[in-house]
Parts: sequence; C-alpha cells; structure tokens
Amino acid sequence: MHNFTYWSPTEVVFGKGTENQTAAYVKKYGGSRVFIVYGGGSVVRSGLMGRVTAALDAAGIAHAEFGGVQPNPSLEKAKEGIAEAIKFGADFILGVGGGSAIDTAKGIAHGAANPDVDIWKYWTEELTVEKSLPVGVILTISAAGSETSSSSVLTNKATGSKRGLDTPCNRPKFAIMNPELTFTLPPYQVACGITDIMMHTLDRYFNPLDNELTDAIAEALLRTVIAKGAAAMKDTHDYDAMSEIMWAGSLSHNGLTGLGGTGDFAPHQLGHELSGMFDIAHGASLAVMWGHWAKYVCHTKLSRFVRYAENVWHITEGGDEEKALAGIQATVDYFKSIGMPTCFSEAPEIGLQSEDVLKDLAWRCTFEGTRTIGGFQVLDGADILKIYESANV
Ligand code: NZQ
Ligand code: ZN
Repeated sequence: MHNFTYWSPTEVVFGKGTENQTAAYVKKYGGSRVFIVYGGGSVVRSGLMGRVTAALDAAGIAHAEFGGVQPNPSLEKAKEGIAEAIKFGADFILGVGGGSAIDTAKGIAHGAANPDVDIWKYWTEELTVEKSLPVGVILTISAAGSETSSSSVLTNKATGSKRGLDTPCNRPKFAIMNPELTFTLPPYQVACGITDIMMHTLDRYFNPLDNELTDAIAEALLRTVIAKGAAAMKDTHDYDAMSEIMWAGSLSHNGLTGLGGTGDFAPHQLGHELSGMFDIAHGASLAVMWGHWAKYVCHTKLSRFVRYAENVWHITEGGDEEKALAGIQATVDYFKSIGMPTCFSEAPEIGLQSEDVLKDLAWRCTFEGTRTIGGFQVLDGADILKIYESANV
C-alpha cells in the first residue's frame, strides 16, 4: 500500500427534505452574504431555488443569485461570477445543481478571495490556491462527485482547453444531498451520471497496485451502481436506486475507492479533450473512450482485468485473456444498455473524424507534448493517438 492522506472534510447532510436545513448550514460555516450559483434553470423550474431563497430570507441571510452556468462550465462564466460576487460582498458561495454549477462555485470562491489573480493560473498550475471563500452545495444530480471532491473542472473556451484543478481548497464545507431532488433528471443525464460515477472508481481501481480492502470497496461500489443504475434508468423516481447512486457518487470521488493506490485517470484525460473540442457531456465522453482504452492497456496487467471481470461482472468461464476481454465487453455493453455512446460514430456531438483531428486531440491531451497520462499504463502521445484512432469508428 502506498502512503496516503485521507481528508474528506465535507459535512454530508443526506436524505429527504434536507435542503430545508440550508440556512442553518450556511450560518454554521460563517455565511452571512450568500452568492448562489446555479445552471440553466432546472433548479428554478423544480421550485428548489424558491424554497432555498425563502429559507435564507427567513433566517435573515442576504443572498444574490447567479444562474446560466452551462454543462462543461467555462472559465469565462466563472470570471463573470467572480466580479458579481465581489460586487455583492459575498462571504459564502452556494452551488446548487451538478458538477458544472459546483465547479463554477469553487472557481468563484477562489477568485473572490483572490481578486487580483487570473484564476486560470490555478488551473494551469502556475499558482497555488492558498485561500478561498467557503463553499456549500445542494446537489441535484449524482455524477461528478464535486460535492465532496478536491477537484474543479473548467473549460477555457478561448483555447478549448478543459482542465481540472486539484486542491484541498476545493472541498465544500457541506453537501446537502436529497435523492428526491434528482427525480426530475432526464434519463440521458442519469446515464451520464452513472457512467461518471463508475469511472471515478474504475480510474482508481485500474492501477499497478493491489490493495485488498480498497479494491473490495471499489468492486462493491461498482456492483451497486451497475444494478441500481439499471433500476434508475427504468424509473427515475425509484428512491432506493436514486439514493444508492447518490451516495456512490460521493464515495466514488472523495478518494476512498483508490486509497493506497496510484490511480490512473487516463480515460478522464482522453474524455476531457472530447468535451473541450466537441462539448459532449462528461459522462458520455468517458463511455466513448473507456472500452478502447481498456483494450489497449489490459495486457499490462491482465490479472487486474480478470479480477474485475470475476468480481464485478461475475464472469467465471474461460481463461484469463477471455475473462479479461469479457469484462471489458460487459462494461461496454452496459454503457450501451443505458444509452451511452461507446465510440465516435455513436456520439452525435462527435461523429467520425479525420486523422488530423485525432492528431490534434492527442497533442492537446499531452498538453502540447509536455506530459504523459495514466498510471496503470503510462501513455505518451503515440499511444493516445492509437486509442483515439480505435475509438474513431
Ligand atoms: O443546468 P441545469 O438547468 O441545472 O440542467 C442540468 C444540466 O443540463 C441538468 N440537471 C441537473 N440536475 C437536474 C437537471 N435537470 C433536471 N433535474 C435535475 N435535478 O443536468 C445537466 C448536467 O448538469 P451538470 O452539472 O453539467 O452535470 P454533472 O454533475 O455531470 O457535471 C459535469 C461537469 O463536472 C465535471 C465534468 O467535467 C463536467 O464539466 N467534473 C467535475 C469533477 C469534480 N469537480 O470533482 C470530476 C468529474 O470527473 C468531472 O470532470
Ligand atoms: Zn468524471
């Protein structure tokens, strides 16, 4: 087991009606002027926003609303929010929605606490976030795990570059998680969320090390999400399914399912370039890439793919090679069964691409020749190009 630090400080407030406690939690973490960040309007249409602002009013907490955050949220929108949050005199940022609203809330918190800094320098690692405003979350989609994670992902629309920032300052103070708030999700978004949750564990599970407890936790999480995901796709009002998925979404990305390992995250890096170039939903971008990545790297440590096939997909027949490939195929088939694309031509946002575009994607994925990706198998620009080529069908 590798050395690790496990710090997941977010206070999770889980269950029916928990959004009614928002004002109390804002106060608990020192908020008196709350800047509320949300997306394209689902939280207004569902009535959630009205309930939250009424509760803040009743508690005498000043608030300002900042909506219009789009999926694959932009740096530009975060900068707009920073200016407004500073003008408002915000001392607390509340993200209401999914990963896009929450990641923008985190960006605004960093910018409002450091008004002289171009925040993109945090994402490009030219600067380190030393201080930020406190962030709280009301989650409405189980997917990105941003509600407890140390990450925030923004896209610089000017360059098409989508990057993640990892810092302890990204950990929200509290996360209000009522599975009923996810009942209004369109099935496509549920499927994107299921895929992303699985991938946060898969991208940790496929690493060079074996750690029995961590691996077993990862496998249990995957089995749960696969089964409950199928139920959720049939009925988004299935409380049992939606609550298991919601809790899995947080556990999958707060670090737990990779403790003691070294992580991989290559599929995430491959997917980010697709979202940066084609604005495809994050979960869908991962479903497009995973099978192609897995077939490319599986011989690096076949035993891990065999274990995955046996313990997650209950595959018992055949030799090692057959089992490993059957586990990969079962995953790809599952993605298809929930309506996810598994190659370029199945994703309407992407479609078949020319070799030049694939080369550009690979070049961008190496941050213009300055990095490799992956830990299970380290991938350079040539490897990355081959994986994009195999997905381009
Ligand atoms: O914008 P609104 O109108 O709210 O609609 C959203 C959006 O269209 C809709 N939605 C959310 N809750 C809803 C709902 N519609 C109806 N009822 C509800 N209850 O769902 C759509 C997607 O929302 P979004 O916030 O984009 O989803 P998600 O949580 O998947 O976030 C994706 C973003 O998070 C990043 C992704 O790259 C992507 O930019 N990630 C963030 C991570 C992190 N911070 O730790 C890690 C992840 O790997 C990921 O990269
Ligand atoms: Zn993800």
